[in-house]
Amino acid sequence: MEFEKVVRLRKSVRNFKKKKPSWKDILDAIDCANQGPFAGNNNHLRFLIVEKKKVIEDVADVCEQSWIKQARVLVLVCSDDAHLENLYGERGRVYSRQQAGAAIQTFLLGLANFGIDSCWVGAYSDDLLKEKLNIPQHIQVEAVVPVGFEEGREKKSAKKSLERTLYWEEWGNSKRPTGFEEEKEDYRPGK
Ligand SMILES: Cc1cc2nc3c(=O)[nH]c(=O)nc-3n(C[C@H](O)[C@H](O)[C@H](O)COP(=O)(O)O)c2cc1C
Repeated sequence: MEFEKVVRLRKSVRNFKKKKPSWKDILDAIDCANQGPFAGNNNHLRFLIVEKKKVIEDVADVCEQSWIKQARVLVLVCSDDAHLENLYGERGRVYSRQQAGAAIQTFLLGLANFGIDSCWVGAYSDDLLKEKLNIPQHIQVEAVVPVGFEEGREKKSAKKSLERTLYWEEWGNSKRPTGFEEEKEDYRPGK
């Protein structure tokens, strides 16, 4: 699929059909996440895949989000900060959060590219989740991602307009001083 189309199509889905996505597509989407930028090219991520129904239900209970039980597969994106912290100190921990977030987004886009729906879930008790899945204390669970095919067709949530997210030359300046008259093409997306 065309990149911009995938970006604009992706949305959080919380209502899944029984049909299970193919492993090839899920694993390919995870591998897309592994292609991202990493500080010093240190990929600190592990992807914990859950497909047993009972375990999916347990994770949904830990998240206190019962809709997660409908998903056929969960992918937990996890970080091990140790190596980045050894290399970069406190900054390494910041890099760890940043590159995990970038990888999660790439994973979601990879899924969307294969027509697979998902949702980034971040609300859960770290301790309970680690206990349930035997995850060592020093590992960070960055996100739980339920994966499947949407049942029904919810509208994508509205996004901030491009203009409201831009400043030019200095903080708070919402207008480009030179305007766009010199540009041949219209700069606005979708035009
Ligand atoms: C860090 C983070 C945590 C989130 N946690 C949850 C969550 O626990 N449960 C949930 O249903 N959605 C969660 N979301 C999804 C957001 O609600 C969703 O991205 C937002 O409403 C925008 O909708 P969209 O993804 O369809 O564009 C989370 C998203 C992010 C980035």
